[in-house]
Amino acid sequence: MITLKNPEATEKLAAIIGKTAEPGDNLVLTGDLGAGKTTMTKGIAKGLGITQMVKSPTYTIIREYQEGRIPLYHMDVYRVEYGASDLGLEEYFEGDGLSVIEWGNLLEDTLPEDYLEVIFTKDETDLEKRTLALKTFGPRAEKFKERILSEWEQINE
Ligand SMILES: Nc1ncnc2c1ncn2[C@@H]1O[C@H](COP(=O)(O)OP(=O)(O)OP(=O)(O)O)[C@@H](O)[C@H]1O
Ligand SMILES: [Mg+2]
Repeated sequence: MITLKNPEATEKLAAIIGKTAEPGDNLVLTGDLGAGKTTMTKGIAKGLGITQMVKSPTYTIIREYQEGRIPLYHMDVYRVEYGASDLGLEEYFEGDGLSVIEWGNLLEDTLPEDYLEVIFTKDETDLEKRTLALKTFGPRAEKFKERILSEWEQINE
């Protein structure tokens, strides 16, 4: 479990994710509306060295950024109900960039083969606090998680 006490902490963790991501890594962000998924993605983009503004791809499903250390594929599948398999997301999951999928848990059968899931939980009283659980699905995700946690522990010693 990771506790983030404010948006700045979320950005710090996101920067680490952006710095430690490797080509082909997949990250699923799960959590309620306003949990902080897009906020985290913006921080990840910064960590990758992307200066372009990251906009939520709610209606476009996918936005691709080629400017950073590795490509960022930002997806938001909140509005995808049926036929997710027709979207061609697999190509991104298997591509040379980092895929960040907001609401990726909704994909069910068309989830990536190997991915790290970050589950955001809001706090009942503290509006700025978030609790994160990191769940790994596959060996690639396991390594990704280890890299993130080792950097995170260093700055929080
Ligand atoms: N610790 C925190 N981490 C991230 N966001 C926070 C935090 N504390 C407060 N916030 C606020 O919560 C909101 C999160 O919005 P954001 O768009 O990132 O959520 P989301 O999970 O992408 O929502 P949606 O499901 O609607 O796309 C922002 O207004 C942000 O300022
Ligand atoms: Mg969002």
